[in-house]
This record gives sequence, C-alpha cells and structure tokens, in this order.
Amino acid sequence: MHNQLVHPDGEHVLVEREAETASRIKDLVASDPYWIRKPRIHTGELHDLRLANKIDYAFLDLTGGITKDVAGWVENGLQHMLRPKARVAFTLAYGWRTNQYMYDMQSYIKEHDPKGLRRLSEALKIDKKPILVYVYVLRSIFSQWDFSLDQTVWYQDSQQSMLLFRLHDFVRRSATMKMADVGVKMQGVIGRCCGQAKKRSAAAHKAWETRRAEAAKRSQAAHKAWKTRRKLAKAH
Ligand SMILES: C[S@@+](CC[C@H](N)C(=O)[O-])C[C@H]1O[C@@H](n2cnc3c(N)ncnc32)[C@H](O)[C@@H]1O
Repeated sequence: MHNQLVHPDGEHVLVEREAETASRIKDLVASDPYWIRKPRIHTGELHDLRLANKIDYAFLDLTGGITKDVAGWVENGLQHMLRPKARVAFTLAYGWRTNQYMYDMQSYIKEHDPKGLRRLSEALKIDKKPILVYVYVLRSIFSQWDFSLDQTVWYQDSQQSMLLFRLHDFVRRSATMKMADVGVKMQGVIGRCCGQAKKRSAAAHKAWETRRAEAAKRSQAAHKAWKTRRKLAKAH
C-alpha cells in the first residue's frame, strides 16, 4: 500500500497478529480509502482466519517457517478457496530455527517417502534441503492441486535468509495420483548456491522494480483522477 500498488477493487483481507502493527495497518488503510476500499482486517493468527470469499491472490509474507497451524489452515481452508488462475506467494525463512514442524516434516518424509527429496532434488536441480522440504510441504498441504512454482527468489533481509515461493497455474490433482508421482513444474531453477541465487534475485528484483514503476505510474494517475472526482463531489 505504501508503494500504491494495491489494486483498489475487490475485498482485501489483511492479517496481522501483533496488535500494535495491526493498529498501524488500520490507520494506514483509513488514511487513504482509495487503495483499499473494502478492507477486512483480521487481528489474530492466520490460522484463525475463516475465508468467506474465494480469492485471486494471497501474499503470505510470513518471513518465518510453515507451522503446523498454518499448514492445517492452508490444507483445510485456503486451498478450497482458490479461484481459477489464483496466485499464492509465501515468504519463508531459509533457516527453520525453532520451527519444530519443519524438522518433524523432514523426519516424516525420510520415513515415509525416503526417495521423495532426492526425486524432487533431481527434478528441480537443487540440492538445498530446506528448499526441498518446503516444496515438499507445499505440495502436501495443497493436497488437491498441482501447481507451477516460479523461480524462487532467495534473498537476505536485514536479519535472515528468505525464500519467496510463488505458486500459480493450479490444476486439480487427480485423486488416484500418488504424492510421489505429482510433479511441480518449475519455471526457472532455484539457485544451487546462495551466490547464484543472489545474482538471479538481483536480476528478478530489477525486472520487478521496472514493472512496479510502470504499475505505480498507472495507479497514481487513477488515484489523482479519483481525488479530483472526490473534490468535485464534495464541492457540489
Ligand atoms: C515481514 S512482516 C510483513 C510485512 C508486510 N507484508 C509489508 O510488506 O509491510 C511479517 C508479519 O507477519 C506477521 N505474521 C507472521 N506469521 C503470522 C501468523 N501466523 N498469523 C498472523 N500474522 C503473522 C508478523 O507479526 C509480522 O508482522
């Protein structure tokens, strides 16, 4: 919203569990009602959010790991609310730190599908276990869908190494297909080492900045027109 890139039409569901941050979000939304016309602000845990309408786009900027609760929410909630052509993005920490669920999933995969990570590694041409386990978990929790994964952006924020996964082209998964047979189509390849990933991230980021600048110009023009209309309406 700060960058005026939010599409003003439709309902926007904004989720933040920290009360102070949620309150700042409320103020920001109220300060300029053009950008988010139908806000629904959920101050609480993501997994307590009940989605009422189907969604086109979800940006789950968690910057942590997938927890058991979030995994359950995706599997039992989000995945049933995707519109055709929906896109879903996750920002997840490369380091799992104290996120027990990810370690549990790694052990679960090792026990129940011992070749699963190797198969995924060969298909995706990546060897970084945290990335492979994330992809495996994403495939598991979107249990009704097959999907494509954009070139994952691997970047360093001020404190931690982050992964931005972008999921799109959701296609209903056949009920008879076994997990191991389901492919994740990749567009581009996740970097094999941080250095390569950083270079690619920089290029992807530059391209995104260019698109963003163009979109911002368009959005700002629409915003200006809206303000003029509002001024005229108030004057009458
Ligand atoms: C990186 S920040 C989001 C930044 C925001 N997307 C932006 O561009 O300004 C991540 C936020 O997600 C919140 N968060 C993380 N996991 C959450 C969860 N499971 N439920 C609700 N909020 C969560 C954190 O409290 C934190 O404020």
